[in-house]
Amino acid sequence: QKTKVVVTRQLNGAAQTLLESHHELEIVQWNSEKPAPRPWLLQNAPGASGLLVMLSDTIDAALLETCTPTLKTIASFSVGTDHITLPLLKTHNIRLGYTPTALTSAVADTAIMLTLMAQRRAGEAVASVKAGEWPAMPWAPQLLTGPQIAGCTVGFVGFGRIGQAVLKRFVGFGVRRAVYLTSRPGEVAKVDYFDVLGGKAGIEAVPARGWEDLGRESDVVVLGCALTESTRHFVGREFLALMKRTAVLVNVARGPVVDTEALVEALREGRIFGAGLDVVEGEPNVPADHPLLKEPRCVLLPHIGSATIETREQMAEESVRNLLAGLSGEAMVNEVEL
Ligand code: GLV
Ligand code: GLV
Repeated sequence: QKTKVVVTRQLNGAAQTLLESHHELEIVQWNSEKPAPRPWLLQNAPGASGLLVMLSDTIDAALLETCTPTLKTIASFSVGTDHITLPLLKTHNIRLGYTPTALTSAVADTAIMLTLMAQRRAGEAVASVKAGEWPAMPWAPQLLTGPQIAGCTVGFVGFGRIGQAVLKRFVGFGVRRAVYLTSRPGEVAKVDYFDVLGGKAGIEAVPARGWEDLGRESDVVVLGCALTESTRHFVGREFLALMKRTAVLVNVARGPVVDTEALVEALREGRIFGAGLDVVEGEPNVPADHPLLKEPRCVLLPHIGSATIETREQMAEESVRNLLAGLSGEAMVNEVEL
């Protein structure tokens, strides 16, 4: 009898070929670029030994109930694991693979892009040109000015692979100082000094004394943490009230790390300079009249942080490798410690 695996999305060529080369598998696959509907997953999960899922699939008690005890492994095509009820995996001895290393560069690039877009008002600027407003707003010394990245202090909320990769890039932009909050301080001690550009432009990243200090000191706040109960609404009214009027908020983590209502208020009242977001609470349900879209200083991207051709190919391939390793009891490319 073949081993059943359920795959919730179409995969690119190489990853799909690798998957299909395993003739011992019965592959049940949602063959579309669009998310698999929840009922499809619930209907097909029973009897599966492995699941290859996206961050848009919710792997909760109801889903797991349909496929334990056959389920041995889950491979998530993501770095985030907040869509999966982790404690239940441990209970049922289910291994979990994910793709953190594949997407570090792409997401770090996105954080840089959002920082510059927010500081330099790129969203407003592009919109005004598209609206035909340029003739009425010729070059002027104060036209669309914003804060400069060189000399800034950057505060990192979450300073794992992505945060550290963002800082390496920022060094090249002349950032002066970096402070961070992390749930895993042991992992960053060895990279406190960034030796780039021949060692001449290294800067020190130091732990923030607390979230209040990080909020007060930072010109750019980069959210790169996992979404957990302790990071949910980390950026709310209290935090935003501490931020500088010239500061920008960048979110490449998960939407719920930011309290949207509080952010809209802060932007509307000019209490912070701007925001660059790749994620938002309630995504993808963001209608054209969403309050954030009314804020000209807010740039909102539709969760494309890791969307480079190379990264998505690597994520697909690593997801398939993790799935196969999980089924055969071998080492995964990256496995979540449950
Ligand atoms: C993206 O948000 C991911 O978790 O891969
Ligand atoms: C979590 O990702 C952290 O580094 O704190």
